[in-house]
Amino acid sequence: MEAIILAGGFGTRLRPFTFTRAKSLLPIINEPMIAHLIKTLPKKVDTVILAVNYRREQIEEYFCKHDFGKTIIVNEEPEPLGTGGAVKFADKHIVGSFFVLNADIICSLNLAEMLRFHEKKKAVATISLWPVENVSEFGVVDIRKDGTITKFVEKPKAEDAPSDLINAGAYLLEPQVLNYIEPGKLISMEKQIFPQIIQNTGRFFGYKFQGHWMDVGRISSYISVHKLLLEKQKKTFITGDQCTIQGILRQSCAGNRVSVGKNTTVESSVLFDEVTIGENVTLDHCVIGEHVSIGDGSVLRNVAVGDNERVQDGTVLDNVVVWNQPIPQGYPSKQIGNVIGE
Ligand code: GTP
Repeated sequence: MEAIILAGGFGTRLRPFTFTRAKSLLPIINEPMIAHLIKTLPKKVDTVILAVNYRREQIEEYFCKHDFGKTIIVNEEPEPLGTGGAVKFADKHIVGSFFVLNADIICSLNLAEMLRFHEKKKAVATISLWPVENVSEFGVVDIRKDGTITKFVEKPKAEDAPSDLINAGAYLLEPQVLNYIEPGKLISMEKQIFPQIIQNTGRFFGYKFQGHWMDVGRISSYISVHKLLLEKQKKTFITGDQCTIQGILRQSCAGNRVSVGKNTTVESSVLFDEVTIGENVTLDHCVIGEHVSIGDGSVLRNVAVGDNERVQDGTVLDNVVVWNQPIPQGYPSKQIGNVIGE
């Protein structure tokens, strides 16, 4: 069985970290986001098709060095084709029912159970569903008791919402879905293809699950997912190999070869590999990129510091992105699409 992982987006909302790396390789608790996802795949999935474009070579290199016991196919789109276009572009590798998974979702969805549900319902398509409180910010589903989805309603007022369930970014599809997608075009699975499947087959189902779900699309959710996973592991902080920590880390995660000086407090923050933080520093809700140094006495709150940046002693920053290097050619100035519909 195959799983297509959508990992071709630019991840513009996670810049500056996506200026230098594929979003799916961003570390979460010191392991790339995409590794967390691959570990949740059922045994039955023996082939993973990576639908990639931006920073393809980094993803390829990662999978050359790390074995997950599955065949990995790197399927590079000539240009980003959207979620539908990327799935169609992978059709030569599909032989039966297949998963389509967003690379940027961290959740407790049990894909093997979702597969059993899909088979029992003889569904053409099954999508995972997650309940939210703020329906007016999302597309929600209209769903019958038996799990059939009859339509999507975009950003309804709370009183008009047919449910509180949103598309949670994991799909299980039959190959016939591929017939609905025109090849070589920028196509949204969610907006253009799913409504046709609902209308033409009546076998479009929703699979609700419980536990946790997080769309790791922004710096704030990137920090939140670390807090969530630390809590689940009952830890207040995590450090990688060869770290020298003289200060205090709270609800934070540090990569390999990180040093944190005396009287420094790191709170609700993520430090990538090879970060050096001086003495008497305060970091609160910050993400600090690889090879960054933060000078003594600095105070940073809600700050994202891109790879290889230097922050001078005594710097005070609030709610900014630090990036003083050129932006990579072709990197979009704003978000191209939005699958989950925040
Ligand atoms: P933003 O620019 O911040 O919205 O991030 P993004 O580019 O990752 O877009 P979004 O969060 O909407 O994408 C959800 C998932 O779909 C991510 O795992 C993306 O990598 C993936 N994705 C988005 N667009 C494409 C595409 O055109 N091709 C492929 N292969 N994957 C895509």
